[in-house]
Amino acid sequence: MNELNTVVESAQSAFGQALTPADLENAKALFLGKSGRITELMKGMASLPVEQKKSQGAAINLAKQAIESALNARRQALADAQLQAQLAAEAFDVTLPGRQRGQGGLHPVSLTLERIEAIFGSMGFEVAQGPEIESDWFNFTALNTPEDHPARSMHDTFYVEGGTATAPNLLRTHTSPMQIRHAVQHVKRHRAALGASAEGLFCGTMPEIRVIAPGRTYRVDSDATHSPMFHQCEGLWVGENVSFKDLKFVFTDFCRIFFESSDLMLRFRPSFFPFTEPSAEIDIQFQNGPLAGRWLEVAGSGQVHPNVVRNMGLDPEKFIGFAFGMGPDRLTMLRYGVNDLRLFFDGDIRFLSQFQ
Ligand code: PHE
Repeated sequence: MNELNTVVESAQSAFGQALTPADLENAKALFLGKSGRITELMKGMASLPVEQKKSQGAAINLAKQAIESALNARRQALADAQLQAQLAAEAFDVTLPGRQRGQGGLHPVSLTLERIEAIFGSMGFEVAQGPEIESDWFNFTALNTPEDHPARSMHDTFYVEGGTATAPNLLRTHTSPMQIRHAVQHVKRHRAALGASAEGLFCGTMPEIRVIAPGRTYRVDSDATHSPMFHQCEGLWVGENVSFKDLKFVFTDFCRIFFESSDLMLRFRPSFFPFTEPSAEIDIQFQNGPLAGRWLEVAGSGQVHPNVVRNMGLDPEKFIGFAFGMGPDRLTMLRYGVNDLRLFFDGDIRFLSQFQ
């Protein structure tokens, strides 16, 4: 009897020391396996007299049951421990706030573009869109830019693969190609409406061209005030009786409305562009606020060069045009007091969300 108790106790302690299911199965074999202690004891009964066999058999069975129940209890305990460990490892904090999709908003430059379109729209200007991959013809040649002009060099312009003299082969360096694209369509439409010949320069009557063309532009340039991708907005006004005075009037109005500053001053400073003659940079000056008293350049402008008027399909003896090209990025910087252009294109939500 004592021996059986010892066997049961040593089984219980061996099971208790088993820390994994595999250890436990090994320990089980020592007691219940083919040559385990209980099996050996059973075999030993063969030599006993009949009465002893009975009582010894019953005692061994009890011991066996005790070992089996210790085994099952330990199995359960190990399984429970494993489940607890897994639950602890995969635990998550149900009290954390859920993930939400934040409220989106327009990029500050998009806000500026919307504002520009609304203001010029109220002055009777259409809004046109043009391709960002342009041809050499629209970007340079049609705009009276000489073959050897430095802007055409690879240092300044991103060229794309393929392309012929007229096929798309570069990323537009300004929105000015839209002057030609839009004017050519406008002239074509009104020629057709009049039943006029499609040949030669047009010198009939047509509604004035008044258009702005906002969009992305590209140059090989990068620092705090230049980004390889930036925005421009072109403006074009062509008619029989348009003058610099009209341009000045419209642009002054635009700036005063845009900056909500009725005493803002404008200055046309002589400059050079191949496609305008004469040409002027447009500077503005605030009378109040942190930028007061400084002249700030916001646009290039000028009277459309006769060669460009011809490339529009118009007779420069009859039609005169004024064009301007402004930088919406710069307008945005001035309006909100941002001093590094790159912030607009880094995509940092902490910066961008301030404009909502
Ligand atoms: N395209 C010129 C530039 O990118 C700006 C401009 C537009 C100048 C129209 C005159 C007329 O600098």
